[in-house]
Formats: sequence, structure tokens, C-alpha cells
Amino acid sequence: MSEKRVLLIVGGGIAAYKALELTRLLRKAGVAVRPILTKAGAEFVTPLSLSALAEDKVYSELFSLTDEAEMGHIELSRSADLIVVAPATADLMAKAATGRADDLASTTLLATDTPILMAPAMNVRMWEHPATKRNLAQLKADGVAFVGPDEGAMACGEYGEGRLAEPLVIFEAVMGMLSGGRPLAGKRALVTAGPTVEAIDPVRLLTNRSSGKQGYAIARSLAQLGAEVTLVSGPTGLPAPAGVKRVDVESARDMLAACQSALPADVAVFVAAVADWRPDEAFGIKLKKGKDGPPALHLVENPDILATLAASGPQRPTLVVGFAAETNDVEDHARAKLARKGCDWIIANDVSQPGVMGGEENAVLLISKTDTERWERASKDAVARQIADRIAKALS
Ligand code: C5P
Repeated sequence: MSEKRVLLIVGGGIAAYKALELTRLLRKAGVAVRPILTKAGAEFVTPLSLSALAEDKVYSELFSLTDEAEMGHIELSRSADLIVVAPATADLMAKAATGRADDLASTTLLATDTPILMAPAMNVRMWEHPATKRNLAQLKADGVAFVGPDEGAMACGEYGEGRLAEPLVIFEAVMGMLSGGRPLAGKRALVTAGPTVEAIDPVRLLTNRSSGKQGYAIARSLAQLGAEVTLVSGPTGLPAPAGVKRVDVESARDMLAACQSALPADVAVFVAAVADWRPDEAFGIKLKKGKDGPPALHLVENPDILATLAASGPQRPTLVVGFAAETNDVEDHARAKLARKGCDWIIANDVSQPGVMGGEENAVLLISKTDTERWERASKDAVARQIADRIAKALS
């Protein structure tokens, strides 16, 4: 790690003191740390402490004649392998999400194409505010990686989510990003996500409650590792992750056709909740209520997209990954599905666990032909990163 360089932006929050410990851990690991201290950050930690631990000059001013002479803000933003924002305050997140550039930290974030890792820290109500949620979603869509925040007691006396992740956890995330590079560069990935929609008539449809969150997170993580990603998505309302080519579809048959057009691919991950059945005919005009009572719907089976692509001969992606949502005997059912569908891995969700379906967290088992791994319950983003890492290892 001796040649790796981190630009550390320290925002203004009570958790700023933890940035000192993070700096110490990074320096101990041989990572060069160049600090930017915001004006608000300097209210909490001194430039002297940060500079002493970083063994480098602390940058604070956008319009500093001496700083600009030594290293302009544009050069500063390009001088690192990774930009880490810790603590990332609600204000810093808002500025970065909207592209504002009115101080050195925000200008640096706008002027760079270096990967960014943010460790948010703020009061729980600020974290849960719809504005922060919007900014978070935008930043993720722009490719920014996140670590934390944690849940716990806050300096302001409240309790909830919004505590800065522990320095060691941020350190691990930084080291992971620094060593990972872009192992999927040059690889093509196909991901399906969201529900499908099956028309009954021009205004009525059959669909399901899939949010698309897990599939979108996987597409984003694969893109962050350098893959060229096509995301075939049913209607979700989620923004397309940065750098991902999204193809919007409605029915299962459209989804199958879009997936086939996206081939060849090195890896295909089928996360979509595809409707098992569709009405055998979609009426061209709206069905009328009448004295004959409700119409009888006759359903026919939809194509199995995963099974079809897993059996697509020379076009078959090297690694085919399916998902399974199970409520009981998760491993047995998932293993049977692995064989039935002809895929290489099944990622099984235990949807009996509260908060998994439609929520922010997932509890999964990775089932391959030879192995079963039970992963810790984690956020869908963390699960996505772990899946993308495993895919990168499998394809390398
Ligand atoms: O059979 P089941 O729906 O439980 O299988 C789930 C897995 O199969 C998921 O990966 C899902 O995306 C995929 N699937 C599919 N086409 C279908 C049904 C499921 O690709 N028609």
C-alpha cells in the first residue's frame, strides 16, 4: 500500500475527532494521507493535529495564494487514488449531490473523477430527512461508495442511525477500495431487476411488490468494479446507477428478449421478480363491468429467463447467478433450484426475516454446486458489494 494516496476531507461534526484515528490507521498501513479540513471541520479538530498525524500539509482555503501556487485545487483533486469524506455531514452530502462548489472540499469533489468513499455522520433526524435520503440516492447513483452510518447514542443525546462508522470499519472500507482497483474492467455483466408487469387489458395489470433495490445495488457494484453493465429492469422508479446501461421493460417476455439482446456477457445475475404467469390474452380494449360478473382470467406460464439463459449453449454467460426468496428450509429449496435452473450460484434470501422484503437489509446464503455460505445480515448495498467481489474473484 506504500504508493497509495488518500485525499481525506474532514467535515464539520462532533465525529471529526474520529478522522484523526482514521488518519493514524492509514498512515500506519503506509497510505499517504493529504487532508482537506472544512471551515466547520476546523471548529472540531485543529489543523495542527490533522497535519501532525497525516504528516502532510492541511488544505482549507479555496482561494489561497500560497496553496494554489503549490498545488491548485484541480491538481489536489487528482492527486489521490481515493477521496474519503469522513465525517460526511448532511451539508457536504447535499453540496456533492447537487454539484455545488463554494469551498475547497465541495470544489474538489466536483472537480474529480477519482472514486469517492463517504462516511456520513449527523443527527438521526437529519439522516432520516427526505432531503438527505434524496441526496444519498443521488450520490449512490453517481457512483459514490458509502460506509455507515451506525446506529447508537449520539453526542446530542438522541439515539438512532447517524453515528460515524468506527475508524477501523472506515479503514477496512478504504483498504478494500484501494486494493480492489477495477478487477471487472473489460467484463460484460447482465443484471435483471424489479418486477415484471403483465397486462390484462390497457389499464389493468398483474405485478408484484419487488422494489428493485437489490438488483440496482448489484448493477452499481459491478459497474464500480469496472464491468460494462446492462441492467434490464421492470418498472421501479429508481434512478439508473451511474455508468450502467438500463433497458426498461414491462413483461417477462420483453425481459427475456432484452436479456438475449444483451448477450454475450461474462456474468448474468437474475434478481428480477418475474411474474410466473400472465393472462393468456391481453385484451386490446378495457374490459367492462357488466351483468355477467367478473371475467375469468386464464393464466399461462411465463418463460423462465434464468433457466433459458443458463441453457443458451455457446451464448451462455460464464457465470450464471439466480436468486431465490424462501421462507423455510432455505438451503434445501435453494439447492434444488440451483439444479433445476442450471445456474452456477443461487443467492437465497430468507424473506421470513422481518424487514428483508422491500426493506434496506438482506440476509443471504450463497449456494454453489459444492458449497453453502451463510452471510451476515447486512444492508442491500453491502450485500451487493460482497456479491460483486465474489463475481470478480470467480471471473479472474
Ligand atoms: O422459480 P423462482 O421464481 O423462485 O426463481 C427465482 C430466480 O429465477 C430468480 O433469479 C429470478 O430472477 C429467476 N426467474 C426468471 N424467470 C422467471 C422466473 C424466475 O428469470 N420466469
